[in-house]
Amino acid sequence: MNYYMAPLEGITTYIFRRNYNKYFHTFDKYFIPFISNTNIGMKEIMELSRESNEGMNTVPQILSKTPEHFLKLADIIAEFGYDTVNLNLGCPSKTVVTKKRGAGMLYDTDMLDRFLYEIFDKCPLKISIKTRIGISDDYEWEEILDVYKKYSIEELIIHPRFQKEFYSGKVHLDAYIAATKALDIKLCYNGDIISRNALDNIINTCPSIDTVMLGRGILRNPGMLNELTESSPVSKDTIISFHDAVYNEYKERFSGEVPVVSKMLELWTYMKDSFTNSDNYVKKLFKAKHCSEYEMIVNSIFRNEDYIHN
Ligand SMILES: Cc1cc2nc3c(=O)[nH]c(=O)nc-3n(C[C@H](O)[C@H](O)[C@H](O)COP(=O)(O)O)c2cc1C
Repeated sequence: MNYYMAPLEGITTYIFRRNYNKYFHTFDKYFIPFISNTNIGMKEIMELSRESNEGMNTVPQILSKTPEHFLKLADIIAEFGYDTVNLNLGCPSKTVVTKKRGAGMLYDTDMLDRFLYEIFDKCPLKISIKTRIGISDDYEWEEILDVYKKYSIEELIIHPRFQKEFYSGKVHLDAYIAATKALDIKLCYNGDIISRNALDNIINTCPSIDTVMLGRGILRNPGMLNELTESSPVSKDTIISFHDAVYNEYKERFSGEVPVVSKMLELWTYMKDSFTNSDNYVKKLFKAKHCSEYEMIVNSIFRNEDYIHN
């Protein structure tokens, strides 16, 4: 099985990725959360630079709605030395979708086809795609697959949910299976792999899966990939070292305590579930604004609670 780290905007930053790569079983590929602004600033430079991603097989992602804009970003990404770029056709957020970007591009398959025709014709890089299965109705996926069939997509990562479903409800494994039958493209499955059990259930339904992308599962339990691959088990101390390394780098990088704490709290939204009795701490934890409050609560969790393996 090949394992990919999902892009999670605001959370799987280069600081998160490189510390993850240091402390846990490594992923075969790490996807950088989407880039959409052609005015590349320090944040984008740090995300894309080879130094930030040393020793990792990393793929940058573009969120775009016009071929011109996509190609401009692809040129910038090529300058950083990448040979592949991923196109985001999955982001379900209202602000993105109303601008016809992300999953919003799936509304109109003729427009999607024209967009893909232009970028596949002119892009100097290989293009992979991360997609949803439509906006809300079953018939849409067949039309979308008919478009994907026409292009030499390097790899298609499928999160088998509709845009309208955001991140909840049952995944549509039948849609994934339909793609395996319709396409002659390398596929990757993404969605709801939060344990060995969850992965086994998905593979039982769809035995041809040989590549999976993990997102919220590794935020919840950063040691999950070690468990899936049955490599060296992760201890609470490893989780603490990983946490401290990420936290200290955010403290170095950001000015002011509020952004550091709010960045860490995004991770705790998920990671809290890997500690016993986390309900006793979350109310106070999510109110923390300053590093001293944050450290006091987090240290109590680490001192008093057990790390829950899957
Ligand atoms: C907070 C958050 C940020 C995300 N950011 C991105 C992103 O930048 N690009 C992208 O393709 N998907 C993004 N996603 C979707 C994830 O990559 C993934 O497809 C989704 O969480 C389903 O996989 P999972 O069930 O393993 O988490 C994001 C999801 C969440 C919850």
